[in-house]
Amino acid sequence: MSKLSLDRILQSQGFGTRKYCRALIEDGDVAIGGEIQDNYKATFETGDLVLTVFDEEWRYREHVYIALYKPANYECSRKPSHHPGVLTLLPEQFSWREVQPVGRLDHDTTGLLLMSDDGPFIHAQSSPKRHVPKVYQATTAEPVTDALVERLLAGVQLHDEPAPLRAVSCVKRGEHQLEIVLEQGKYHQVKRMLAAADNHCSALHRSQIGGLTLDALGIREGEWCFLEQAQLDLLVPAA
Ligand code: URA
Repeated sequence: MSKLSLDRILQSQGFGTRKYCRALIEDGDVAIGGEIQDNYKATFETGDLVLTVFDEEWRYREHVYIALYKPANYECSRKPSHHPGVLTLLPEQFSWREVQPVGRLDHDTTGLLLMSDDGPFIHAQSSPKRHVPKVYQATTAEPVTDALVERLLAGVQLHDEPAPLRAVSCVKRGEHQLEIVLEQGKYHQVKRMLAAADNHCSALHRSQIGGLTLDALGIREGEWCFLEQAQLDLLVPAA
């Protein structure tokens, strides 16, 4: 636990530049425990601190871990070019905190996207060595056949990969619906695997990462929530 001045606390939580945070405090827009705090030099223990800024409560968080239900037509890249970036779906503080996606979903893919400002966490989660299963629902242009399922389970060769990539699990869910579980996170992996198996992915949704499901989080398309430790503990590699 550390003790910090109020202007530093606000800045660390992404409320803006130090100058702007000082102005917020001096204008009486910041309260702690129901009391307006207008001295930016006042110091507070950050451990269990809850700030009220413009009448909205924010618990102090050294880092933020976020789950977003990504809608289609949003880009995960830092400099989006054709569609708005996923950060535009989150409060502005998170841009100031340099929150970024953990891995990527294509602009037309929907579903569970993790985001954080914790560099080592992002790095560890995105590492190719970390085999956390990710569950996708793919809609296919051609019917799902037993042969397709078998090919995806056996492994398909993508032109820039040294070895065939296989699905951990692959289940037909409908005439054009496939549930596929992957442990790697290669570029356009589901779409490229389906193309390599002579089908085409016309829509893609990610419902689960490790043991963390969108259903359990209860967020709807375009919504986000903080992830607490018990939820982060579900993001473990397969045994
Ligand atoms: N595989 C893809 O092809 N696209 C995604 O967005 C995620 C996995």
